[in-house]
Amino acid sequence: MIYTEKVMEHFKNPHNQGSIPDADAVGQEGNPVCGDVMKVYLKIKNDVIADIKFETLGCAAAIAVSSAMTDMAKGKTLDEVMKMTKDDIVNDLGGLPVQKVHCSMLGVDALHQAIKKYRTGK
Ligand code: FES
Repeated sequence: MIYTEKVMEHFKNPHNQGSIPDADAVGQEGNPVCGDVMKVYLKIKNDVIADIKFETLGCAAAIAVSSAMTDMAKGKTLDEVMKMTKDDIVNDLGGLPVQKVHCSMLGVDALHQAIKKYRTGK
């Protein structure tokens, strides 16, 4: 399987990996295709993502997607982040092998879920 250089960089040195114990919102999503899981933690200030961390139990693609996603989301408003799609992340990574595209769904789904929970106060 051929990954882009950027995917390998994120996989080997993931950005923003870990948890935020006093997070303002947490989202978790599982991948029905493979059973892998991703959890995202957010600190939110004035409707902006002030800090973001992730924990992913998944393949190299899922970890690279999670890492790239946190880079893209940090510093953005909640509205901007709600417009992010899995394609934005895949494009940022320079593409994923076709059989790995399903791995890109975990990241944005967990992120959007965290924001929805934050907005509804859950
Ligand atoms: Fe499960 Fe990639 S194989 S997320």
